[in-house]
Amino acid sequence: MPGFELFGEEERKHINDVMETGIIMRYGFDGPRKGIYKSVELEKKITEVFGCKYAQLTSSGTSALTTALSALNIGFGDEVIMPSFTFVASFEAVLSVGAIPGLVDIDETLTLNPEAVRAAITPKTRCVMPVHMCGSMADLDALQAICKEHNLILLEDACQAIGGTYKGKSLGTIGNAGTFSFDFVKTITCGEGGVVMTNNHDIYVKCDGYTDHGHDHNGVDRGADLHPFIGYNYRISELHAALGLAQIGKLQTILSIQKKNNHILKSYLEQIPEVTFRTIPDVDGDSYTFLSWFLPTESLMRATVAELKEQGIYGGNFYWFSNNWHYVRKWQHLKYAHTLNNISEQQKTALYKLQTQDFSASDAIIGRCISTSIALSWTEEQVHDKGAKLAAAIKKVLNKEKVIVC
Ligand SMILES: Cc1ncc(COP(=O)(O)O)c(C=O)c1O
Repeated sequence: MPGFELFGEEERKHINDVMETGIIMRYGFDGPRKGIYKSVELEKKITEVFGCKYAQLTSSGTSALTTALSALNIGFGDEVIMPSFTFVASFEAVLSVGAIPGLVDIDETLTLNPEAVRAAITPKTRCVMPVHMCGSMADLDALQAICKEHNLILLEDACQAIGGTYKGKSLGTIGNAGTFSFDFVKTITCGEGGVVMTNNHDIYVKCDGYTDHGHDHNGVDRGADLHPFIGYNYRISELHAALGLAQIGKLQTILSIQKKNNHILKSYLEQIPEVTFRTIPDVDGDSYTFLSWFLPTESLMRATVAELKEQGIYGGNFYWFSNNWHYVRKWQHLKYAHTLNNISEQQKTALYKLQTQDFSASDAIIGRCISTSIALSWTEEQVHDKGAKLAAAIKKVLNKEKVIVC
């Protein structure tokens, strides 16, 4: 997820534009800012590039999710169905609005299994939140059908899938709302930042106010604004938006390098019959930030991880099963409701239930999966070298295993 690899003159120029006026805040100071409105410019660009009607920048992907949930009127006691494999921010946002994260199994798309979603729906369910992990997408047709049937909201966490598409539409623009993260390791970065995208004017207006203390932005100045509801400060700064403006101009270049490198790497792994790949519901829509692949068993994958570490070539490969951040197995703080402040009894009860919930179907997938991240800075020779070494390590483990079986 490498937008920062292409930092250059363009980023410097946009940041310097802001520093020329010294107005780093996105609102107010209309005189001194001399027509420089980087946040407004970036929001417009996002609507054009990703094809949505409205975009509201935020301070992070996490605050984008919190903002979207609030604007969608999801709160106390409501259940939000989300996958067992995601980044912790997805459930943090749900908890922060008083709602209950309902974690369900994934399938080989590495995100929500539609059947598991269907089985998890209760009278309290208000929202389904697919997380388009590692650059590719959930089965959105199936999830949209479920949402329609049960009158549920579809909120796409597309924080990791900037530039990915599904049937011609940008990920993050298909549900009632969708979010991107522009943190430092994302496909395009603002340093820190995020966005809520929607085609619904009412949701957008709520996001606009919520991210800025509830200001309606209709006053002659900030002191004259009305506050139709209580909001928070989830604003992006002009410096971060400036960085994002430079980066969004590089998106197509980033995506095409990722695609090329991903294909080269895959050409090595697909020669091994035991290696299979993540299911991609729309193969043309992958953003190619990762190549996610499986081995037939968890023990083979564990042996491969050990072999890659032994050879000093594990870097850039993510074995999510033993990673503390991205998979339910290690989320002890969630399962034991370790929060700093009091949370509702409903939330606590739901979190404690995670201690015994059966995630064996997810384990059977994540335990066999590695996602190999794709860099932009690799030379063609380096990608070939990485592919050859990775394939050789996998073959070594598979051969050793065959010898043991014999
Ligand atoms: C799936 C997902 N959702 C949300 C976030 C939160 O984004 P941020 O780091 O900008 O708060 C991330 C960040 O890694 C993510 O991967």
